[in-house]
Amino acid sequence: MADIEKIFKESIEQPEVFWARAAEDIDWYTKSEQILDASNPPFYRWYSGGTLNTCYNAVDRHVEKGRGDQAAIIYDSPVTDTITTITYRELQEKVALFAGGLKSLGISKGDTVIIYMPMVPEAAIAMLACARIGAIHSVVFGGFAASELAIRINHAQPKALVTASGAIEGKKTLAYKPLVDEAIEMAEHKIEKCVVLQRPFVSAEMTTGRDSDWNELVASASPAECVPVEATDPLYILYTSGTTGMPKGVMRDNGGHAVALNWSMKAIYDINAGDVFWSASDVGWVVGHSYIVYGPLIKGATTIFYEGKPIGTPDAGAFWRVISQHRVKSLFTAPTAFRAIKKEDPNGEFIGKYDISCFEALYLAGERLDPDTYHWATDLLKVPVIDHWWQTETGWAIVANCRGIEELPVKAGSPTKAVPGYNVMVLDNEGNEVSANTEGNIVVKLPLPPGTLATLWRNEKRFIDSYMTTFPGYYETSDGGYIDDDGYVFVMGRMDDVINVAGHRLSTGAMEEVIATHPDIAECAVIGTDDQLKGQLPVGLFVLKSGVDRDIEEVKTELVKMVREQIGAIACFKESTAVGRLPKTRSGKILRGTMRSIASGKEYRMPSTIDDPVILDEITETLKGMGYPTS
Ligand code: COA
Ligand code: AMP
Repeated sequence: MADIEKIFKESIEQPEVFWARAAEDIDWYTKSEQILDASNPPFYRWYSGGTLNTCYNAVDRHVEKGRGDQAAIIYDSPVTDTITTITYRELQEKVALFAGGLKSLGISKGDTVIIYMPMVPEAAIAMLACARIGAIHSVVFGGFAASELAIRINHAQPKALVTASGAIEGKKTLAYKPLVDEAIEMAEHKIEKCVVLQRPFVSAEMTTGRDSDWNELVASASPAECVPVEATDPLYILYTSGTTGMPKGVMRDNGGHAVALNWSMKAIYDINAGDVFWSASDVGWVVGHSYIVYGPLIKGATTIFYEGKPIGTPDAGAFWRVISQHRVKSLFTAPTAFRAIKKEDPNGEFIGKYDISCFEALYLAGERLDPDTYHWATDLLKVPVIDHWWQTETGWAIVANCRGIEELPVKAGSPTKAVPGYNVMVLDNEGNEVSANTEGNIVVKLPLPPGTLATLWRNEKRFIDSYMTTFPGYYETSDGGYIDDDGYVFVMGRMDDVINVAGHRLSTGAMEEVIATHPDIAECAVIGTDDQLKGQLPVGLFVLKSGVDRDIEEVKTELVKMVREQIGAIACFKESTAVGRLPKTRSGKILRGTMRSIASGKEYRMPSTIDDPVILDEITETLKGMGYPTS
């Protein structure tokens, strides 16, 4: 039996043996005697009784073991023309001092801290400082608007918020602080303390008594030591889009997370201590949490903080420049970034300008890797291009080509096979396992491996309803797809109203909730349509209230503005149209899935419960008029 098969089999048949062994690579204060606590399904807890500190594992232990002078973080910011290196020893000092600063503000174990920052190393320092003192961080992506931040403040109930005065996004300078002030003002939950990193190109106004300057706070702080926490204590909450306007607060605990990420760095990414790993994402997403900050640092590798874009900062050679300059071994990004590069530099001429002989593999995730992009990247880079599939909920890959164990042949369009720890199956809507090559619901048989979501923060009911109820005994991924005769998994897309725009996970439901507040709109639906660059884009279909006689173009402009202001520019909501009515079931449920199929040119079955089938013809015509399907 091949290595990966043997390892996979053990992980499923003897998970406790498998994960007890993986836990040996983590430093514990107290080892857990119970590797898996399965006494309260569907809540499975890993390493109960064990105590550790995630920051110690990501920082201090490497200094103690002789890596103090190795680069921990390389900050490469073409938008501010800065490149700096932070060694593990320097990182330890900075994190300990910021942790001391947080303590001086009254933050202690179990408190929640929101971090709303651009791609600067201080974002990682703030995260690690929270972990150091047992506080729970919740990083919010800097592209979200004030009201989205306010929703998260209300739910996470943080004692403090850490932010920066602003960011440079491509060529635009964005002031963060006015937006943060607005969010704090809007939120019912009142934040007591705010720490602000002043950046040279934009200055933030401070609120006396509430706001502290990052540098001043650190200058007067005493370094804080790592505190032991339970393996099952929360490390962070990361909000992700669900089907409604209320995001889901994925709760990750400390022990399983450290073990799984450390294991994945070698098994999936083939990264050892001392290697340079680059994840071109953002700390606001799960990729940033797992593979900019925690994974590489726990492993003792060097991680790159890149504050720039794949194109335009300054050109489509940016990625190759970074790889060459910092001797990057592997890069992880979203296919959309490669589509953007391909559009600007179709023949890959920029690649030839740099020595990228250090580069061993490209990893892509966050959305489906289309075969065109796969072939383009493979042909030009001449290194393995590895698609892997996962979700904010799982925190690390469910399906991947585990190159660090055994590299399998790639099948374009498939992220390869289930990763050890994940018993992936495809079920029909009645919960029966389907045969090979048959599409259905992709699920994972419980228990999920360590490092996956422990629950939804302050909402166990939603955790059970969203993931554990449709198929009892399985985790419902909400992705559809099939497994072929060789065990390769093909992920075809979301079965719910979550869309992926430029690798950013967004809720069409949240956009609908915004549009529904427009005074002239009776009802609306937002659907995901295919886009050559960004994968998907939202398109709104709305019905005006009867008697409303308005210039439709004006209404459309108002909707774009509303979504931008209330969700953020990243929603990329630019297109909408007025329709006479929306297709519904007899019980009044809008048939979004059917409209999605029409917009993407997929065959669909006429829903037996449809109220009036003629409406589908009208919608087909409307979408055709808008240019959908695109091909
Ligand atoms: N803060 C504030 N605004 C942000 C932002 C941030 N962190 N990130 C994006 N935005 C804004 C952009 O400025 C843009 O605003 P605009 O409408 O005023 O121009 C809008 O949100 C849309 O951004 P984006 O979808 O990123 O489009 P783009 O045209 O600027 O760039 C790509 C296109 C493909 C280059 C870019 O999306 C990209 O690099 N994608 C990779 C994404 C990724 O790594 N995802 C992580 C998953 S692994
Ligand atoms: P997020 O939680 O932001 O990581 O988004 C998770 C969703 O992105 C998944 O449910 C999938 O729909 C999609 N996704 C992520 N990676 C892949 C991939 N490699 N192939 C297909 N879809 C993917």
